[in-house]
Amino acid sequence: MSGKRVVSATINGEEVQFLCEPRQTLLEVLRDTLDMTGTKEGCTNGNCGACTVLMNGRPVVSCLVLALEAQEAEIRTIEGVSCGSELNPVQSAFLEGAALQCGICTPGFIMQTEALLEANPQPTEDEIRFYLSGNLCRCTGYDKIVRAVQAAAQQRQAAAE
Ligand code: FES
Ligand code: FES
Repeated sequence: MSGKRVVSATINGEEVQFLCEPRQTLLEVLRDTLDMTGTKEGCTNGNCGACTVLMNGRPVVSCLVLALEAQEAEIRTIEGVSCGSELNPVQSAFLEGAALQCGICTPGFIMQTEALLEANPQPTEDEIRFYLSGNLCRCTGYDKIVRAVQAAAQQRQAAAE
């Protein structure tokens, strides 16, 4: 008998059902089963933040979440943040601020930033650095990333006025 289970979740606003084994992580299912490869795999042990997605509005490292835990959950991934064919303010700010090089860390940073700006639309630099401290980048250093988050916060604020 197969040990696979059916999981129902909402991913980027769409109801999705998938089969998974109890040992499989949400990251594995997103990338390998659902072909949503925007979420990146770095360390697979919770240390780099590359695999960050939002689960019921909170950032989680999807390599440490069992796919079974996504039952009835609302998941948001990097594929769900753009506004149709337009980049959203956080994506634009990272691009315009050259806050990425190889890009492996970028989806995780963007999802973490989305969660930050939802909770705290005008964070201080210290708050940004603290909130993003679980996301690692081997290429850029962090200053450009922090500047991009500040620019995104300003853009979002201007759009809301
Ligand atoms: S791949 Fe999940 S934290 Fe690094
Ligand atoms: S851009 Fe390469 S790890 Fe961040």
